[in-house]
Amino acid sequence: MLSPSSLLSAAQQYGTPLYVYDADKIKEQYGKLVHAFRESNVVIYYACKALTNIHVLRYIKELGSNVDCSSINEVKLALYAGFPASRILYTSNGIAFEEIEEAASLGVTINIDSLSNLEKFGKRFGHSYPVGIRLRPNILAGGNLKISTGHDRSKFGVPVEDLPAILSTVSTYNLQITNLHIHTGSEIKDADIFVRGIEVLFDLIPHFPDLKSVDLGGGFKVPYKEGDGETDMDALAQKVKQAFDAHPVARNLQIWFEPGKFMVSDCGYLVTKVNVIKETAATVFAGVDSGFNHLIRPMFYDAYHKIENLSNPSGPEHVYTVVGNICETDTFAWDRKLPQVREGDLLVFYNAGAYGFEMSSRFNSRFRPAEVIIENGNARLIRRRDNFDDLLRNQVEI
Ligand code: LLP
Repeated sequence: MLSPSSLLSAAQQYGTPLYVYDADKIKEQYGKLVHAFRESNVVIYYACKALTNIHVLRYIKELGSNVDCSSINEVKLALYAGFPASRILYTSNGIAFEEIEEAASLGVTINIDSLSNLEKFGKRFGHSYPVGIRLRPNILAGGNLKISTGHDRSKFGVPVEDLPAILSTVSTYNLQITNLHIHTGSEIKDADIFVRGIEVLFDLIPHFPDLKSVDLGGGFKVPYKEGDGETDMDALAQKVKQAFDAHPVARNLQIWFEPGKFMVSDCGYLVTKVNVIKETAATVFAGVDSGFNHLIRPMFYDAYHKIENLSNPSGPEHVYTVVGNICETDTFAWDRKLPQVREGDLLVFYNAGAYGFEMSSRFNSRFRPAEVIIENGNARLIRRRDNFDDLLRNQVEI
């Protein structure tokens, strides 16, 4: 965990709002996964949609992780970061077939998530390009409905009940199905949900003789607030091992996971500065130099992010509503007890590494923050703050 003083000095050097990442924490999280699954044939694909900064990708590559991508541009970023195609997985959703062709031309592993694209893939590649199928297991799980992807009304994956149609396409084109994939949702704490997913996939295994792997997606829970648990990795690893060892075919397959949050949520901090304190009859607002343009999770998912007052940690506690500075309601936290917040204080939001910078925007023509990584005690800038030219870039003056 980064100390308040290292966050303060990064903010002093690079200004606010500022994303700061702790490289050691990423290493620790990856290490937890490797250790927990050491007795199973598990391969980790970091779900880079959570955070695609090139330096972070390179760091994660050096740790030994593979990478899971959700767009062709993420695939290209991963290649640019130095991942060989053999370590890149592209789990697509709802994309044009041309993008799948492009991914195939780059030689990466692909999971297809619709019958329509499976059919096109069969026509174009037949047996020549091994491919995976993303299935919808019809399991409702995850922190909230917006981040649940496996339920029976979800757009993701081919519904398992479409097995006959899948098999008919596979046989028509002699497709080589080497991977079966599910991703049930994000923030799944209960290991048994993964076991239910495994059971769904195990029922399908006999139909796919070319299988080399079973891909259980990501979605491990990380703690956001005190008292929040996280997925018990050792318990999960044990259950997964038990299930696979007991299956005559699955015991020989690789098991893939695609963690995003687990890898990078806790490594990230968003450091902001308090612009304005506004006392009203209802509440005291602490208005910071950021907003949902930089960290959308509180407004979008009602997500809780722990906040600390870095510059006045031992002040007397009061209750604040922490808000941003954009032209819409952008509340980070309601009724949060914090050491007295004064104009100019620095507030830090925890757990900002996953889907923080990555989901940021330039709404209100405000600059996206800079990003800094702290590695072996050294803070280094890995993305400069936007500047005015960035606002004009790509605009065509006529
Ligand atoms: N694999 C697939 C196919 C996915 O769709 C996702 C996330 C992951 C892996 C990684 O899931 P994770 O381990 O990060 O939970 N923006 C939301 C989360 C959306 C997740 C979308 N898919 C949030 O900030 O809570």
